Amino acid sequence: MPLFAILTLFPEAIEPYLGASILGSARERGLVEVVTIDFRDFTRDRHRTVDDRPFGGGPGMVLRPEPIAEAVEWLERRHGSFRKLAMCPSGRPFRQAFAEDLARSERVLFLAGRYEGFDERVREELGFELVSLGDFVLSGGELPALCVLEAAARLLPGVLGHEESAVQDSFSGAERRLDHPHYTRPRVWRGREVPEVLLSGDHAQIDRWRRAAALHRMRETRLDLLAGTPPPADPLPPNT
Ligand SMILES: C[S@@+](CC[C@H](N)C(=O)[O-])C[C@H]1O[C@@H](n2cnc3c(N)ncnc32)[C@H](O)[C@@H]1O
Repeated sequence: MPLFAILTLFPEAIEPYLGASILGSARERGLVEVVTIDFRDFTRDRHRTVDDRPFGGGPGMVLRPEPIAEAVEWLERRHGSFRKLAMCPSGRPFRQAFAEDLARSERVLFLAGRYEGFDERVREELGFELVSLGDFVLSGGELPALCVLEAAARLLPGVLGHEESAVQDSFSGAERRLDHPHYTRPRVWRGREVPEVLLSGDHAQIDRWRRAAALHRMRETRLDLLAGTPPPADPLPPNT
């Protein structure tokens, strides 16, 4: 079973999420194991100090390397080596292809930073890859770690109810295009009708409509993804 470990100073902030919904059920069913490690438990001083002032001056505090390294080494002695990801705004931007790669890994460890981040030597010494969730700054790496973990875990065999739903999701499959819009009951809601074609039962036509609608949406929101994609063969029906 794949093992994910999250190193954090705030395990209590992430454990409820790990126990809920799809992740919680996957853990209960033994499809994935997730452990949280508080690296403050690996400090050796009376005050359980994990941070210190930055060399060179400047605002904020920096996470010291020793407790993090000791926590990682303790985990690796117990379980074997991990692929190690440190959550960091200046890291490699996280993408679906990366999630697919992680879903093939046996053991992945996430380091959730705090304050100004962690001492650079942790990355060098332990071989962490830096991963960014996007071009913005949060106060801690817990949410980025959960996002990356969930994006990978939901791709593991048996985790989702319908295996094909992950293949149809945005950024997935060979084309990595966006998902199409979805509709359910009622057929008319506040005067807005479900596109007629979706009620037709003609699956070839429905597939064509969905493909066109996905491309239409990409033109609105993600022109960057459209580079090299030919325009849809069929125009969208008028009620879209
Ligand atoms: C306040 S941030 C540190 C920001 C850092 N001084 C900088 O400007 O790049 C504290 C921690 O939150 C996490 N974090 C914040 N934003 C993130 C993002 N966009 N992607 C990944 N991790 C992030 C990282 O673990 C980081 O060490």
